[in-house]
Formats: sequence, C-alpha cells, structure tokens
Amino acid sequence: MNSTAGDLKTEGETARETDCKTDTRRRRLVAAVALVGGSGITAAAFPLLSSLAPSARARLAAAPVEVDLGDLSPGHLKIVEWRARPVWILKRTPEMLACLAEVADRVLDPESKQAQQPKNCANATRSIRPNLLVVLGVCTHFGCSPVPRFTRGAGEGMPAEWPGGFVCRCHGASFDFAGRAFKNTLAVKNLEVPPHRYLSETRLVIGDGAESTT
Ligand code: FES
Repeated sequence: MNSTAGDLKTEGETARETDCKTDTRRRRLVAAVALVGGSGITAAAFPLLSSLAPSARARLAAAPVEVDLGDLSPGHLKIVEWRARPVWILKRTPEMLACLAEVADRVLDPESKQAQQPKNCANATRSIRPNLLVVLGVCTHFGCSPVPRFTRGAGEGMPAEWPGGFVCRCHGASFDFAGRAFKNTLAVKNLEVPPHRYLSETRLVIGDGAESTT
C-alpha cells in the first residue's frame, strides 16, 4: 500500500524521484506543452513571462488568470498556466460523469474529504459546474504532470479494466475524471482544485474564488 512503498525504493526509483524533484517545473510545463499536440487538447495563450522585468513577472505570475471556454467541446481538455503550474480544464461528457459513480469504490477519497479543493468543490464531481473539471495538472505523489488517457479499456496502452482518466508516467499513479487518486498507487491525495469562479457561461477566472477546505 502507498504508505509503505517509500521504504522499498529501488535505486532506479530513487533516481527518478530525484530527477522529478530537481526539475519539477520544467517537467510540468514541458509535459503540458507536449499534451497540446494531442487530440482534443488546447493551450491558452500565455504571456511571455521571461520578457518582463522581474517585478512585473512576479506580479503577473501570481495574478488570477481569465480563460475563455467558448471553444471547449465536451470530452476536450484545455491547459492554462497559473502560478507556474498547468491547470487543466476538462469539459466532461455524460459518460465521463457517469464514470465517477462507477469508480467510487476504486478511488482513495471518493467524497473529497481531504482538503484538496475549495469548499464549493467538495462534492461528488469536485467542481462548481458538474460538466467542468478545473484541476492542477500536478501529480500529488511527486509533482510530475500526468497525461490524459480518456479511452476506456486497453486502447491507449492501459489495462483492459481501465475506466478512463489520467496517468502519471513517473511512477504510475492514476486519477479519475474528477482528479481522484485511484487506490494502490503512490499518490495518496486527489489532484488539487485551485480557487476559481465563473464570470459568465464561457468565462472562467482561476486564482480567485472560494479557498481550500483547510
Ligand atoms: S510523480 Fe510519482 S506517480 Fe506521479
């Protein structure tokens, strides 16, 4: 089980974890950019932070990010950067929503009791709007960026019983369509939901809204 896995690391596992730790931000952003090439995934335009003065860069990096959802179709994922981390916005299909109830007994924290989301997302879908998941694309095991594996079954190199969700290629943690960690992997927390709120039917602000349940 997860809590004892750290005592049984091989040298290879330790090396991989060190690699993750020392270059986490680069890995997350590279992974996020790599994802954009995949089907159904888009990235919002980011300001070029490196071209700004340090003070302006720091202010901009910490500021809330406004996102247009007008071009986001059901089953597709949009990636934006907020506070140097990728934020995933998944427009869930009815099938993805149905899958949440189906896998409830396979995830560690099905009712979101851990403080990994704002109060207004501590519900069955971990979201303000059931069809829209807003979650940090940062693995809660060691900070790598998982990848989408939305197809049920073995179609994307997953086992036949795979219900669809996200997989972290670093050490194999996996998450469902609400970012809930599956049991028996190294991640012991759900993916974090950042504070956010909706300005309209198609405008979202990340970094502003109800705080975590802590
Ligand atoms: S960083 Fe280890 S499983 Fe994701």
